[in-house]
Amino acid sequence: MKWSIVILTLLQTVLFALSGETVFAKKCAVCHSHDYIPQSKLVVNYQHNNKDMNLTAPTVTELSFRIKDQVGDRTLDPEGQKFEIEDWLTQFLKNPEAFKTILPKNVRAVYGKMPPVDVSEEEIEALAEYLYEYAEEMMVTHGVKRYTYEEALAIAGKERKIILIEGYLPYCRGCIWMDRNVMVEPEVKAALNRDFVLVKKNLLIEKLPLGMKRLGTPSFYFIAPDGKRIVDMVEGKGNKEEFLSLLASIKERVYR
Ligand code: HEC
Repeated sequence: MKWSIVILTLLQTVLFALSGETVFAKKCAVCHSHDYIPQSKLVVNYQHNNKDMNLTAPTVTELSFRIKDQVGDRTLDPEGQKFEIEDWLTQFLKNPEAFKTILPKNVRAVYGKMPPVDVSEEEIEALAEYLYEYAEEMMVTHGVKRYTYEEALAIAGKERKIILIEGYLPYCRGCIWMDRNVMVEPEVKAALNRDFVLVKKNLLIEKLPLGMKRLGTPSFYFIAPDGKRIVDMVEGKGNKEEFLSLLASIKERVYR
């Protein structure tokens, strides 16, 4: 008898577990937009005091980036950090107006104050999960497609594309910065999609092909379409213009 009650309760928790997406849609999305805005446009919008876009509040992507970077310890396992985010949200949502902000000064300055929102413990747990995962999902949805090295070799051979291996390490700040600020910019995406095929490698656990030695991260390893010739190996981050000019110079050296 007792067991059936336990099983029923368990079933209920599984079946009726709140989705963070639903909670957010109901309680937060009136003000926080789901639109994805490339970082370069957003920066300009804030320089213009939000006059270009007239946003009511920071977008969900902005919130997710900032929360992941600034709330709790991001070197913990994800469950650990989500727990810390939950704690932080609980305090924040009770009294947003008096809370120490995670937004930069010029961003915070363009918005009015956020009013307190009534949320239950379960809803906060779901929101923490949602906000933690959201940034990564956006990068996958709006970034360039990545392939395994074997897939890339086949595509490069067939379509005469240059293989670009992006070397990264978890928690490498420069790598995250490149992903958010450069690799998702429309012009960069267009250049990459036209002439390159991308592979992403975690240099902590994955080896580079053709006996290449790993550089510091982020780093970029370019291989000719035949899959046999190393064109260049470049270390460090660069802004959109610098990265586009790197791509152009590699392209010239390969197709010349
Ligand atoms: C009535 C509009 C409104 C609603 C509803 C709303 N927000 Fe906000 N929120 C804002 C505004 C405006 C800001 C920017 C000013 C600020 O930081 O207080 C903001 C800022 C934030 C921040 C950044 C806080 C900081 O300054 O560090 C977080 C996190 C956040 N909101 C989460 C949420 C969540 C989660 C919900 C739903 C439970 C929600 N908001 C609902 C308007 C709103």
